Amino acid sequence: MAQSDWHYPRKPFTHDSFVALTRGPVAAMSLFGPRRTGKTEFLLHDLGAHAARYGHRVLYASFWQTSVAPLSLLIYAVTEALRPRSYADRVADWLRHPPIKIRVGPDKGPGAVEIDLSERREARLGEDLLLLDDLLGQLANPAKPALLLLDEVQELGTAQGGTEIMAGLRTALDRRRDGLKTVFTGSSQIGLNRIFSSREAPLYRFAAPLTLPPLGPDFVTHQLAVFHRVFQRRLDPATAQEFFERFGGNPMVFQRWLMTLGQYRDLAEAAAADQTADALARDLEFDRIWLGLQTHHRAMARILAERGHDPFGETGAARYEALTGQTAPIPQTRQSHVRTLARRGLADQWDKEWRLTDPLFETWVLERPEGEV
Ligand SMILES: Nc1ncnc2c1ncn2[C@@H]1O[C@H](COP(=O)(O)OP(=O)(O)O)[C@@H](O)[C@H]1O
Ligand SMILES: [Mg+2]
Repeated sequence: MAQSDWHYPRKPFTHDSFVALTRGPVAAMSLFGPRRTGKTEFLLHDLGAHAARYGHRVLYASFWQTSVAPLSLLIYAVTEALRPRSYADRVADWLRHPPIKIRVGPDKGPGAVEIDLSERREARLGEDLLLLDDLLGQLANPAKPALLLLDEVQELGTAQGGTEIMAGLRTALDRRRDGLKTVFTGSSQIGLNRIFSSREAPLYRFAAPLTLPPLGPDFVTHQLAVFHRVFQRRLDPATAQEFFERFGGNPMVFQRWLMTLGQYRDLAEAAAADQTADALARDLEFDRIWLGLQTHHRAMARILAERGHDPFGETGAARYEALTGQTAPIPQTRQSHVRTLARRGLADQWDKEWRLTDPLFETWVLERPEGEV
């Protein structure tokens, strides 16, 4: 059975996003979803695949932990999108690391430019922005708009030359609103706000903000059916649903649980659930992260994970005292603890509310014994 059989298509959301971009008034949208909730999967296997099926050119670039400078990555992505390839081949390439050297323009002769992606190119920022603009001009097609899928763009906010790149991108995209449509994704609200909601940012209000819809019971039903076909074993739907909810409807965790059950035929669902949770915490090094925090940070992390209290108000203070046995510090101090968590990428601000960034870490914190902050 192919990998793609496990893919659960987000049909209505794909359709709506595609229509909004190609026939609606928006030229760009920004899609927020916490880490590992299915943004990349949606871009590549739902929206991108759908657009390609209808003859649109599709481009993908992820700014997450890449060693390539963002502008070089964009130039590479547009260059590749201009070549004739099948969509499946493109996806395979996007998931690989970019090559060290790329050739832009004709294969040979005048006009051909070779770019070394590993090279630092700050000095040539202006030239590269012109090149990007030119390439985007070639990609633009008002009859069938090209789709730019730019993943984890909050990284642009802090990248070297990020402001200039965003400004260049905005100009290039604005000039071709009919021929180029963009989806930006991000897994940090603070990071996305920095790019799209702060007045000084070049992409201020450029994209219509959306949140990736959570997966529901249909996802579980779909995955259980695939599991049954693959492993010839039926799982209890209610237990599966419960496990799915325990981890906030996270598709990756759910699939890991299924793989554990697939590998160990005699393992009961509940035992597989605990085994999966332990393995996940180990892989993501939650212990190490927790040990790296001081007691007051841990207490604030737990308070954010519980969500119910106003972390800087009286209910938060009462909870702080119950957890630590110490008097709660003044609100400003508690705020600075939360900002420390944010700086370490552990806390994020959703609308006005502070939360832990990673829903899996949130579940892990909640499942810890209370006394161990
Ligand atoms: N629609 C889906 N159908 C099946 N599995 C999915 C789906 N969305 C996400 N997943 C699973 O969850 C994992 C994490 O998703 P991903 O798209 O990488 O998250 P994100 O980009 O938000 O960090 C994927 O590798 C895949 O195994
Ligand atoms: Mg991703």
